Amino acid sequence: MRWGIIGYGWVARDYMALGIRAAGGSVSAVCDPSPDAREQAQADGARVYDSVAAMLAAGGLDALYVATPNHLHAEAIEQAADAGLPILCEKPLAENAGGLERIAAVAARGDVRMGTAFDQRHHPAHDIIRRRIAEGDLGAVTAIRIVYCCWVDPDWSRGTGENWRANQTCAGGGAVLDLAPHGLDLAQFLTGEPVEHLAMVLQRRIHDYPVEDGGMTTGRTASGVLFSSHTSYNWPENLPRRRLEIAGTKAMIVASDTMGQDAGGHMTRIDASDGSSETLGFDTGTTPFARQAEAFARFARGEDCGFDIARDIAAARAFFAAFEGAGRCL
Ligand SMILES: NC(=O)c1ccc[n+]([C@@H]2O[C@H](COP(=O)([O-])OP(=O)(O)OC[C@H]3O[C@@H](n4cnc5c(N)ncnc54)[C@H](O)[C@@H]3O)[C@@H](O)[C@H]2O)c1
Repeated sequence: MRWGIIGYGWVARDYMALGIRAAGGSVSAVCDPSPDAREQAQADGARVYDSVAAMLAAGGLDALYVATPNHLHAEAIEQAADAGLPILCEKPLAENAGGLERIAAVAARGDVRMGTAFDQRHHPAHDIIRRRIAEGDLGAVTAIRIVYCCWVDPDWSRGTGENWRANQTCAGGGAVLDLAPHGLDLAQFLTGEPVEHLAMVLQRRIHDYPVEDGGMTTGRTASGVLFSSHTSYNWPENLPRRRLEIAGTKAMIVASDTMGQDAGGHMTRIDASDGSSETLGFDTGTTPFARQAEAFARFARGEDCGFDIARDIAAARAFFAAFEGAGRCL
């Protein structure tokens, strides 16, 4: 699978490119307006271009991965769609409802295979949780509780430019817009149901920037599973900050450090009959990005593999409706 990457910053360079290679593919081409990003991509073995149009005109690609700042996803997808190549786009799909509808219009054409890069549905531990839920190991699931926090200084950046995450126009929001979609999609992946009745409370507590630096997102699935997610940019990174709990009538699974870009983490099952706990093993050597790249390669060839852009657009519409309401109370 010969991939073309649109935007070679932090996530593309440090995670997806490695995942593509681990999955047996190649990063054949990269387009990025940043000379530093292009220099890095060239050193990593890719042909480099300063625009999407130039990269697509050169050809020789089987799939595209969009990893620009949020407000540029729609434009990249509109340009890329005409090439007819499968497109994997980073989350959040867009910076706001307007950008999302531009992407929805491309998806509605029905001639491009598209997916969202929700890498956490590809973490090996989460696969095991999903299977245990489906097999009834947890009994009736009552709640999914997530903590997914980090520290983002006003000048934080792992790419080559400024901190667009703290810029309302580029990001569209802060910690909740950036991080909560991961947990919402993961809950949907684990239960097989969308999270409905979304409500959010945002905070701007620590950092001096216009976007929220923390917030709570709550909801409920159609069958009644409660969902809560605390996401923030104001959480010191040495504190425990990545925790996933799924509680049911028979057992509870607690996973720490499985949410995130890396392989590994730790997972425990606690039995409701006597409170005893056991460590659950899983493949700790394969990153979610490698499995995501492998799955998208199969999706690009026509398999199902769980990618569903219509599902993701519906979820993002519900997200933006709740987020915009919460923003008015910030
Ligand atoms: N799935 C995850 O775990 C995860 C992790 C980090 C980031 N992300 C998402 O990935 C996207 C990128 O985030 P990042 O942290 O890598 O940002 P970044 O700033 O590090 O990288 C973005 C890159 O896009 C480039 N760019 C800007 N305009 C462009 C254009 N018109 N065409 C092509 N490239 C352009 C920039 O020069 C930069 O190199 C965001 O949507 C973010 O939410 C996802």
